[in-house]
Amino acid sequence: MDVAHQTSAKEAVGIHAAQLVLDGMNVGLGTGSTTAFAIQELGRRIRTEGLSIRGVPTSFAAERLARNLEIPLATLDEVAHLDIALDGADEVDPHLNLIKGRGGAHTREKIVAALATEFVALVDASKLVTQLGSVKPVPVEVLPMAVSPVMRALEHLGSTEMQIRMGQKKDGPVVTDQGFWIVDAHFGGIENPNELNKAIHAIPGVLDHGLFIDMTQRVLIAEVDGTIRTMEKG
Ligand code: A5P
Repeated sequence: MDVAHQTSAKEAVGIHAAQLVLDGMNVGLGTGSTTAFAIQELGRRIRTEGLSIRGVPTSFAAERLARNLEIPLATLDEVAHLDIALDGADEVDPHLNLIKGRGGAHTREKIVAALATEFVALVDASKLVTQLGSVKPVPVEVLPMAVSPVMRALEHLGSTEMQIRMGQKKDGPVVTDQGFWIVDAHFGGIENPNELNKAIHAIPGVLDHGLFIDMTQRVLIAEVDGTIRTMEKG
């Protein structure tokens, strides 16, 4: 899928997903270019339809976008439970397991997704894989002083290649919204994502990582022609 088609697919699925949001809902607002279209559509619905919602953002980026659109926001101190959370993904497998975190927001995204009755992933068809890890690395958010032992542990778990994620317009590592670093760990096709999920969690110095196992209730997929299809937990 070329970039122009991918962008219009992201827009189509983002707009579609925003229609799942009903009056009075508490809504998890994901991070990334696909969810940005959903957040913009929610802003439009608030302005033109009088939709009444509270959004819980998953990053500084999502918060700034939502504030610019005048979407009412709440924190997790104010809201114990979300009706729905909308978010993008980098890879989706046939069991609705995901890799997330290209934008470095996966830790907050996972917290918000776990509190939602329904966590909906929004993707274009290029994100579908038969096995997680086939294309994308698993982003691991790490306490900076622990980066070397964490990388050695990831290698022990089978990572064949790792990079500390570097800033684009800043020298040195990307610093997350939590003040942590990100190690992008390539595993190739991951045979047992749930086992790897638990094993990475158990490494001291890891805050969280981008494997989302058994968390997604629905995936909305935009095809190249803009049609949307749905994969649901069976
Ligand atoms: C943010 O850290 C990520 O988890 C994104 O949700 C994910 O990378 C999808 O991003 P795009 O919608 O920009 O492809």
